[in-house]
Amino acid sequence: METKVDEIADRIYRLSTFLPSLGLSGFTFNQFLVDAAEPLLFHCGQRSLFPSISAAVARLIDVRRLRWIAFSHIEADECGSLNEWLAAAPEATVTHGAIGCAIWLNDQAPRTPRALADGEVLDLGGRRLRRLDTPHVPHCWDAGLLYEETTGTLFTSDLLTHVGNPAALTDGDILGPAVEAEKKFGYTALGPATGATIRRLAKLAPRTLAVMHGSSYSGAAGPVLDSLAVFYDDLLRKGAPAGRE
Ligand SMILES: [Fe+2]
Ligand SMILES: [Fe+2]
Repeated sequence: METKVDEIADRIYRLSTFLPSLGLSGFTFNQFLVDAAEPLLFHCGQRSLFPSISAAVARLIDVRRLRWIAFSHIEADECGSLNEWLAAAPEATVTHGAIGCAIWLNDQAPRTPRALADGEVLDLGGRRLRRLDTPHVPHCWDAGLLYEETTGTLFTSDLLTHVGNPAALTDGDILGPAVEAEKKFGYTALGPATGATIRRLAKLAPRTLAVMHGSSYSGAAGPVLDSLAVFYDDLLRKGAPAGRE
């Protein structure tokens, strides 16, 4: 197993592990390192991937320099190895939204988490990460995303998931493959707020989308997100649960 490293925006690194045996065409699990005065890791990865992912981080920085660990929602691929990271980086603090701290981290984390309010900015020194609450989008009550303001990078978590082992970064179509994956897996907790939540993200007009499963995207990402919102609005209107068309 190998974790590949690619810089997808200035000092923002994609750490990608491809598991070829998952599904018909395999699946990538991607974490992102934001290199700043106070480095931040977005997504921990599963515990089984920790040796490979931490070795990849170590090729970029001393792991003990990690200051922040963040993730979108409570699932194994997002935060399964949280305790391993906190042990490897003694100065690191886990940060999440208020709901996630209340329902999970305040009880389960080995160190006190830092709760971020919706819209609150974490200044890393050279990079500024804004917390955006996105409850149940793509899934889980505690869900939220981070937006790095200086590079215009939105960390989308499972939004725009697609399968296979595509290029680290593309300016091509990721919406089509993401729609296909949604129809196949039905992973989004589709509800009346899904489209509106994604439109709020589109208004940021990101220049890079850091996608957790599949290629990251470089280009004008607002229209991509607006189109994704239209897709979910249509799905909801048809009354067809995602994945069961
Ligand atoms: Fe997820
Ligand atoms: Fe995920």
